[in-house]
Amino acid sequence: MFKVVLVYGFSLLINIIIIVESINPTLDDDVLGLIVFKADIIDPDGKLVSWNEDDDSPCKWVGVRCNPRSNRVSDLVLDGFGLSGKIGRGLMQLKFLSKLSLARNNLTGSVGVNLGQLTNLRVIDLSENSLSGPVPDSFFEQCGSLKSISLAGNRFTGRIPDGLGECLALGSVNFSSNQFSGVLPLGVWSLHGLRSLDVSDNLFEGEIPKDVEGLYNLREIKLRKNQFTGLVPDEIGACALLRSVDFSENSFSGTLPSSLQKLSLCSDMNFRSNLFTGEITEWIGEMGSLQSIDLSNNMFTGAVPNAIGNIKSLKVLNVSNNRFSGSLPASMINCQNIQILDVSRNSLTGFLPTWLFQLGLQTVLFSENKLAGSINGAFTSSTNISHQNLQVFDVSHNELSGEIPSDIGKFSSLRFLNMSKNSLMGEIPKTVGKLTALDSLDLSVNQLNGSIPVEIGGATSLKDLVLSQNALSGNIPSSIATCSFLTSLILSKNSLSGQVPVAMAKLADLEYVDLSFNKLSGNLPKPLANLAHLVRFNVSHNQLQGELPGGAFFNTISPSSVTGNPALCGAAVDRSCPTVLPKPIVLNPNSTGSDPDSVPQPLDNKKTVLSISALVAIGAAAVIVIGIIFITVLNFRVRSTMSRSAAAVPLSGGGFSSSPSTDTNSGKLVMFSGEPDFSTGAHALLNKDCELGRGGFGAVYRTVLGDGRSVAIKKLTVSSLVKSQDDFEREVKKLGKIHHPNLVALEGYYWTPSLQLLIYEYVSGGNLYKHLHENEDENGSSLTWNERFNIILGIAKSLAHLHRLNIIHYNLKSSNILIDGMGEPKVADFGLARLLPMLDRYVLSSKIQSALGYMAPEFACKTVKITEKCDIYGFGVLVLEIVTGKRPVEYMEDDVVILCDMVRGALEEGRVDECIDEKLQGNFPAEEAIPVIKLGLICTSQVPSNRPDMAEVINILGLIKCPSESNEDSES
Ligand SMILES: *[C@@H]1O[C@H](CO)[C@@H](O)[C@H](O)[C@H]1NC(C)=O
Ligand SMILES: *[C@@H]1O[C@H](CO)[C@@H](O)[C@H](O)[C@H]1NC(C)=O
Ligand SMILES: *[C@@H]1O[C@H](CO)[C@@H](O)[C@H](O)[C@H]1NC(C)=O
Repeated sequence: MFKVVLVYGFSLLINIIIIVESINPTLDDDVLGLIVFKADIIDPDGKLVSWNEDDDSPCKWVGVRCNPRSNRVSDLVLDGFGLSGKIGRGLMQLKFLSKLSLARNNLTGSVGVNLGQLTNLRVIDLSENSLSGPVPDSFFEQCGSLKSISLAGNRFTGRIPDGLGECLALGSVNFSSNQFSGVLPLGVWSLHGLRSLDVSDNLFEGEIPKDVEGLYNLREIKLRKNQFTGLVPDEIGACALLRSVDFSENSFSGTLPSSLQKLSLCSDMNFRSNLFTGEITEWIGEMGSLQSIDLSNNMFTGAVPNAIGNIKSLKVLNVSNNRFSGSLPASMINCQNIQILDVSRNSLTGFLPTWLFQLGLQTVLFSENKLAGSINGAFTSSTNISHQNLQVFDVSHNELSGEIPSDIGKFSSLRFLNMSKNSLMGEIPKTVGKLTALDSLDLSVNQLNGSIPVEIGGATSLKDLVLSQNALSGNIPSSIATCSFLTSLILSKNSLSGQVPVAMAKLADLEYVDLSFNKLSGNLPKPLANLAHLVRFNVSHNQLQGELPGGAFFNTISPSSVTGNPALCGAAVDRSCPTVLPKPIVLNPNSTGSDPDSVPQPLDNKKTVLSISALVAIGAAAVIVIGIIFITVLNFRVRSTMSRSAAAVPLSGGGFSSSPSTDTNSGKLVMFSGEPDFSTGAHALLNKDCELGRGGFGAVYRTVLGDGRSVAIKKLTVSSLVKSQDDFEREVKKLGKIHHPNLVALEGYYWTPSLQLLIYEYVSGGNLYKHLHENEDENGSSLTWNERFNIILGIAKSLAHLHRLNIIHYNLKSSNILIDGMGEPKVADFGLARLLPMLDRYVLSSKIQSALGYMAPEFACKTVKITEKCDIYGFGVLVLEIVTGKRPVEYMEDDVVILCDMVRGALEEGRVDECIDEKLQGNFPAEEAIPVIKLGLICTSQVPSNRPDMAEVINILGLIKCPSESNEDSES
């Protein structure tokens, strides 16, 4: 029958138990109770398999003990059985249970069962489970036998029932680490038998009543981490057996009662983190058993009492973060057992005590006091200095002076040494290299000079080395590489010079490196790129040069970490590298004017004459050549006019030839679209006065044809780089087939081995650069917003067209954007990079160097492939230039302003509208201008893949311009 019962659910079971009991009163209550208890428990490890309901007696079951006389269950001890589930009512059957211990399981739910009815219970230990809810009021109703209760380490809440105070047999109460609240039942404070009270880590409040003298058996009281208030009662002195007092982390206040001196057995006294005030006086010396005193984080005043020296057993003294003043008592020389001395963050004065190193201390913390005088004294005061024990020594933030004694190297166990923020002078002793256990050395903010000793490499355990803000000079020693655990290397604000040692790259654990504000020079070693854990690497404000190392960290290094090194280059400093670029022209404002690739401007006469004469000489007898559609013969002839310095090449018409370039002096002229007028009049083909501008690939001249139509002729200056004639012609013909309203059409070419001309459609309105930056001459008439927007859109369309044909422009800049009579932009100079024999990074960046402000950062980074995204970058810069009216790089008095950084900064600070070209005089729709700026910024992302492609750009522009307006606008 019983088995059948077990098949059913538990609630049903309880009812049936009662029936069963009434039917068969001889059935063993204990078997029944334990089986029912087990039915509520989840037993993943099968610890309770021996519990079999067929057994007559449970006394052999695991975790169960019976009273040998009555054969009834007395102890149930299931500690650490990995049980979960709830504590069920089955336990109530165990009428003779004396010890219930379910500690260290995963039991949940509340203790709904009224254990208080088990009148024989002496020990309850439910500690370290996940029990929750309040303890029922009836829990302690019949607790006359209860000697020990622990509910520690659960999630109980609410108040402790007052009944607890009636459990007069109680010797041990442990409620620690729950969320109990309210005041403790008053009765608790007079439980004569109580030896141990631990309520730490709860939310208890209220005061300790005055009459605690009833607790004369108390050995241990732990109130840590609650919200107790009020005073420590004088009567505590009556608890004469107290060995351990922990009142820490509460809000106790007032002074400590001198009656504490009666606690002569007390070894552990902790009043840390309260609101205590007043002085500690000589009474403390009576507490002769003290091993540990913690008074830290209070507001104690006065001197550390002389009587401390009487406490021979003292091992730990912590008075940190109080208002103690004066100097430490000389009597402390008697505390021969002391290991840890923490007096930091007080107002202690005087010298570093001379007894300090005679006591064999392990930890000495003196930081943030007002100790003065030479640091040397304590080291040299005595011959019987113990060097073996000291592990932690912190005297930082005092007023110590003098030199660091070389004896420091004798403290062979030292792990932590901090002497920062003093006025120490002289050199860092070489003996620091003997500190093989040292993992943190901080000597920062002193006046140390000399160099970092090479011997530092001997400190092979170092993890943190901080020497910043001194006057150290010389090199960073390569020996640092032997400190292979180093994670922080902070040497900023010294006068260190020389190179950053390559050996640093061996420090694989490095996370924080700060070498800023020194005089370091040379290149940053490339292998630094292998440092996989770098979080910060600040080398700003040195004299470093050359290329930044590549790699994951350095590619994304914050510009502020590298700034202030005028000769450093790479994407992060927004400066292309000299390895690919002969000189960093960005930094020389004067050089822009004379740079051959700069924007069109009045030319130096002599130079021009020379170059034109040369051109003429080479091309003088040039004749002939058959084009696909139109063939003509050109005959160049010098017509030097005395007036001015103009050199002109006349075009003589009429001479036709069908045999191209048999003569070395003859060139080949090809016009793609048949131009009858080209051969008719005699006009200067290249006229110096008609020079339109110069670009990376050569100068451009305007020539008027016989019919009065103008063409622009570009003389390639990169002859030596140009491909063979076949390659050249093939590429040029391809370019000639590209037609787009926003691209300057290539109409023909002229070829000799030493002279190449490209003949372009002439665009009348000048280039965008002039429109944006040189408008002052033209009566202040400046581009309107709609014109600007239209220009941006036109450029975007032309680039989209080029990219569809797999042509990368490579050379976008405002001087390459021409504006026709209708205000339409026409992009020039596209595809010319294809004429070069090699399309490598060197050639690209050296040919387009003046376009620096437009040059995508990947040009400086050899590991990144250059794709059409470099055009998107240039386009982004153009967008910003068009909207702001500012050059991509502006030279201020002693500063260089990079346009995209400036705009990005302004956007982040919410004042982007201040960036918009003043010449617009506020006549622009902000709802268009600001999105356009944002688009420009996206296009100038450092990471190529973050930039949109041209088709997306056109879509975005379409969305920015609302449809109704865009119709009107297309006419402008
Ligand atoms: C309690 O349960 C967790 C997971 O639920 C488990 O990791 C842990 O070991 C269990 N603790 C005990 C004492 O069984
Ligand atoms: C109270 O119980 C916790 C958790 O089991 C234990 O760590 C602590 O030492 C106990 N307190 C005392 C005074 O024994
Ligand atoms: C630039 O020119 C000015 C005036 O001509 C001169 O004083 C200055 O030193 C020059 N700067 C550089 C970097 O050459």
